[in-house]
Amino acid sequence: MSNGLKGIKTVRDFELEGKVVFLRLDLNVPMEGGKITDENRITASLPTIKYCMEKGAKLVLASHLGRPKTKDDKEFSLEPVAKRLQDLLGAEVILVEEPDSDAPKHLLPSLKKNQIILLENVRFEEGETKDSVEFAQKIANYSDIYINDAFGASHRAHATIHALPSVMKDKGIGFLIEKEITMLDSLLQNPKRPYIAVMGGAKVSDKIAVIERLMDVVDGFIVGGAMAYTFLKAQGLPVGKSLVENDKLKYAKEMIERIEARNKTILLPVDHVATKGITDTANARVTNDVAIAEDELGVDIGPKSIKNFSVALREAGTIFWNGPMGIFENPAFAKGTFGVAQAIAESDAVKIVGGGDSAAAAEASGFADKMTHISTGGGASLEYLQGDKLPGLEILRTRVR
Ligand code: 3PG
Repeated sequence: MSNGLKGIKTVRDFELEGKVVFLRLDLNVPMEGGKITDENRITASLPTIKYCMEKGAKLVLASHLGRPKTKDDKEFSLEPVAKRLQDLLGAEVILVEEPDSDAPKHLLPSLKKNQIILLENVRFEEGETKDSVEFAQKIANYSDIYINDAFGASHRAHATIHALPSVMKDKGIGFLIEKEITMLDSLLQNPKRPYIAVMGGAKVSDKIAVIERLMDVVDGFIVGGAMAYTFLKAQGLPVGKSLVENDKLKYAKEMIERIEARNKTILLPVDHVATKGITDTANARVTNDVAIAEDELGVDIGPKSIKNFSVALREAGTIFWNGPMGIFENPAFAKGTFGVAQAIAESDAVKIVGGGDSAAAAEASGFADKMTHISTGGGASLEYLQGDKLPGLEILRTRVR
């Protein structure tokens, strides 16, 4: 059973007027040529930032961006994010180039109401990924209150997620993490039934832990994406050259048996879009049945599968969607993912979408605004659901209740 938010303070619990609030965010947004291509993580961070500003806090924001190797990897600079934040907040965002410098300490006393500080990518500082207490202490020296709202990074034991709150007394979470955990907990505790987990994406191995955790909670699974081919091959069906994890065939076979033994359902594709190569749209065809020819590989689920899945999804009370049904980035292979997104959108269920690829798929489908919640954390949401303790959350459990 998850401990959820037990013992964790929220930003509402603190008197913020005149206090220096260090706010760790996940502003790790995708960029192309210095341009932000999806700003969801920025907009999802705004409520906590605005709340702190309204309450009169002096804000120091921080985030990582990508995985830079050195300080000189300027493509990982937060500068475009600082500019966007400035527009969205109508406040001046002062970007401090050295995350471990004393600059904030000098800027803070004269910081005006419409100014906030943003540290440059904390991963430019070696100590960040090493969970360095020394780096953390530098920040703690000028901060009064630590707030974590970086849900997507809370599974990382890094300095601004873990070491820093470990050396600070006043600490808690922001509104984004509060919502994420409340939503994810609703998938584990008293979900509205029937409860269906839609699993997709490339690999079964990435999802085993979460499947195991959900096995006792859900009423049924729907499996699509490349991971479905491992399940189909495990049943002796021809999958051609499709991506299969041969070392997981036994697991897949046993999983089907275990689900059925619990009187639960598992729906697999009954037809596919198959082609001769992963980018070969010219030879793409609907297979009409479950078999894929020897020289073909599956790249999407077919229309009969979309229909079957949609019927089950329309009846659902709770849906957790994790992973696309095919290579949706290619419009020729996107029908399955978008069809499933539509069925989820049209159902009256509580519909929660995992982060990462699933969030991108929901966005690309055009149905994102119909979902109850789309997680901002890919790895973090899966780790939380599979029952792992998130270091960034555990370190904040300070009160007994
Ligand atoms: C994410 O994009 O999932 C988070 O920002 C965490 O990034 P990381 O996997 O590089 O730690």
